[in-house]
Amino acid sequence: MPSIVLVGGFFGDEGKGKIVSYLSKNDNPSIVVRGGAGPNAGHTIKDGNTTYKVRMLPSGFLNKNAKVMIGPGVVVNPEIFFKEIEEYDVSGRAFLDTHCGIIEQNHLEEDSKGRLKEKIGSTGSGTGPANAERAMRTLKMAKDIESLSSYIVDVPNEVNSALKDQKNVLIEGTQGTHLSLWHGTYPFVTSKDVTASGICADVGLGPKSVDEVMVVFKAYLTRVGTGPMANELSAEETEKKGWAEFGTVTGRPRRAAEFDFDLAQRAIMLNSATQLAITKLDVRFPECAGVKSFNDLTSEAKSFIKNIEEKLQVPVTLIGTGPLVDDTVDVRSG
Ligand code: IMP
Ligand code: MG
Repeated sequence: MPSIVLVGGFFGDEGKGKIVSYLSKNDNPSIVVRGGAGPNAGHTIKDGNTTYKVRMLPSGFLNKNAKVMIGPGVVVNPEIFFKEIEEYDVSGRAFLDTHCGIIEQNHLEEDSKGRLKEKIGSTGSGTGPANAERAMRTLKMAKDIESLSSYIVDVPNEVNSALKDQKNVLIEGTQGTHLSLWHGTYPFVTSKDVTASGICADVGLGPKSVDEVMVVFKAYLTRVGTGPMANELSAEETEKKGWAEFGTVTGRPRRAAEFDFDLAQRAIMLNSATQLAITKLDVRFPECAGVKSFNDLTSEAKSFIKNIEEKLQVPVTLIGTGPLVDDTVDVRSG
């Protein structure tokens, strides 16, 4: 902070939601703002006994002092936006930009059949078809929808003004670097660039206004939907390792593989990472569940983290040791 952009380094589902929530609770941002594609994202947050599954709002809403915003580069499904505002107690502090694109019924239908569904394995959320229409310049925008009028602000202006006033701003990316429309495994990618530069463009922040770039990696690799993934494990091997997971949005089983240093290295280059977060360390090393200080990790887990730092030459500053927001080792605090 003051401005930190957080993005996924693999194929999405790295655990960004939990890390964003942690930063939001601990670093007191005045604004948490979301870039990225649209409601194809599914961020899971567990705090106390409550589990939130967020698709539209930024995951930083747990901090009640933070305004949550959606940048103009994101396509919005108003139904999901309203539902999440109500469910997650953010009324009065949730906003979207006048230029957010709007997902309508025809986009949902187009995304749930044919090539997008079968070949690409899209999430069926209407995100891709809406972004295609945006490129055709026929898509409706938030300003065209009456029911959204009281939520509309100038997000780039809000974000840049907050930074000018020395306030903290947390910029939340979605999906993962290797699902980027520009840099991922095309055509098996999402409908936007989701690297740090793209996410910043989505919220109206220029490259010189970003202080830190945090890339989030899970301690192993998963991918939901189709597309290449080197050294993919069989379903049985995945189950045996305890790495079996299911998609937040689609419920589909996720494919899994070992932590991939080549993909990680490229993600660091594409995002100019200044810090790394490693999530789900407890899934690899169950003795580390709930640990909150680096010294209390087992020596095996410490070597795993040190090896990542050595090979990738970027410091690991946050480590996830469990599903709860507070199950986090924060190396920044010493
Ligand atoms: P779309 O973004 O819904 O068009 O889906 C394109 C590809 O990206 C599919 O393989 C999806 O499973 C994947 N994808 C999209 N959003 C996410 C996400 O938030 N997490 C993981 N995979 C995603
Ligand atoms: Mg997800």
